[in-house]
Amino acid sequence: MLNQNIGQGEGVYISTYGCQMNVNDTERMLSLLEMVNFVPVDSPEKASLIIINSCSVREKPVHKVHSEAGKYRQMKEKNPRLRIGVGGCVAQQEKAKLLKDVPVLDFVFGTDAIDQLPELVAKTYEGTEKVVSARFENEKPYSVETLVRNPGVSTFVNIAKGCDNFCTFCVVPFTRGRERSRTLKELISDINALTARGVKEVTLLGQNVNSYESECGADFATLLETVARDTSIERIRYTTSHPKDFDQRLVDISAKYRSKICDYIHLPAQSGNTEVLARMNRGYSREEYLAKVKMIRDGIPGVILTTDLIVGFPGETEEQFMDTLSLIKEVRYDNIYAFKYSPRPFTKAAKFEDQVPEDEKQRRLALLLETQREIAFELAKDYDGGTYDVLIEGEATGNNANSGLWQGRTTHNKIVYFLGGRTEMIGQTIPFKILKSFPNVLRGDFADKEAIEAKYPGATAPIVPRHDFVAVQAPEAESKLALN
Ligand code: SAH
Ligand code: SF4
Ligand code: F3S
Repeated sequence: MLNQNIGQGEGVYISTYGCQMNVNDTERMLSLLEMVNFVPVDSPEKASLIIINSCSVREKPVHKVHSEAGKYRQMKEKNPRLRIGVGGCVAQQEKAKLLKDVPVLDFVFGTDAIDQLPELVAKTYEGTEKVVSARFENEKPYSVETLVRNPGVSTFVNIAKGCDNFCTFCVVPFTRGRERSRTLKELISDINALTARGVKEVTLLGQNVNSYESECGADFATLLETVARDTSIERIRYTTSHPKDFDQRLVDISAKYRSKICDYIHLPAQSGNTEVLARMNRGYSREEYLAKVKMIRDGIPGVILTTDLIVGFPGETEEQFMDTLSLIKEVRYDNIYAFKYSPRPFTKAAKFEDQVPEDEKQRRLALLLETQREIAFELAKDYDGGTYDVLIEGEATGNNANSGLWQGRTTHNKIVYFLGGRTEMIGQTIPFKILKSFPNVLRGDFADKEAIEAKYPGATAPIVPRHDFVAVQAPEAESKLALN
């Protein structure tokens, strides 16, 4: 039996890089560690256990593992009880080698070893040996219960893990293993348990949600329909959907359950040029991608689209890059997440010989982002003066924290900041009138002030914010959205 007091009431600190998958994994790690008497703390100085939940999708976040671990060296000299581990995608990729490269580490655990974490931590406290666990668990179906300590209004739910697509630039199939789905039955009971705890919105997570396949043959569209029809969850989001697998049935079900399935689709294009897309092994051409966009917009009018794009993929010519630029002008995404191509271990594209120079990648990225900025500002105007249902999350966080402003989200995933929030409003959906709009961020006021005043006396009285409204999302929030 595992010792239930491994933590002895001491602190655990986890820093998280990468996508929502990792954000969700961190929550799972904290839940498991709390069960063995660790207490989550908000700074590494207060901790006896530090975990870096790493990302390997580009080179930059990999460097962060080394630089962050380096900072802890001195702390370890002062505190002999301090243990430091790395989890996530770099851990999975490097395994035992990471212990050699970063001597300050005590343990390394892979993406399928999260549930062994308490045991691994116990081992590091018992002996002097360093601990590694980085095997993929390949049994099907993948079964897991969502663990959330204090579920808020919105929660992530993993529906599948791994990826079998092998896009030639991407390390994820190597760090997350083969694709496996949870059963429909398990997912529904999981979501029911979450709604019973007050959750109003779930984001279904998978590297490629629309290749979801339950043991009974249900596909992603059926999963969405079942969640919308058979649970009392109010809003359903999902990420990430692969354009090659986005079909008419998914559009039809999204339209049928529009009151629940959010008007926000992240549809990574990666490039606007058909030859580049073929070299990326994406499984669609520019024209096929545009046809999917049309199918989605025809079936769900008013839906907003965002995308991921890579510039400077090996061999990408100026002309081919121009096709990516023209794609964003043609589609007019509300937001894009654009990245300079970064060669990754094990991937095919890393071996392509025609790598694009760094300064050229930088120039293309800057041009793409500048063009998108203009588009996003133009699109934002559409929201001015409109009325939208807003799911209230609580007091503002990020750049607007401590301002007196509150925040909620529209079904398009736009944050609405407002004054006059009340704790009792959290989890309620309230109509808001938009006073001023910016890309991704809206400033709003209650649409029906009389109704609000009747229900929450004093809420509509004039209030002066403690500091000015900041119309830019916090970088941390952006990176969470970016699957970065
Ligand atoms: N499963 C998701 C993406 C996961 S990775 C999908 O298929 O869309 C998140 C994003 O990182 C990708 O969409 C891609 O734009 C970017 N990315 C992945 N590998 C990269 C690399 N080697 N260099 C630069 N960007 C990369
Ligand atoms: Fe899989 Fe997405 Fe990576 Fe492609 S980009 S290999 S679909 S995770
Ligand atoms: Fe892994 Fe997510 Fe990064 S799957 S490589 S943490 S983007």
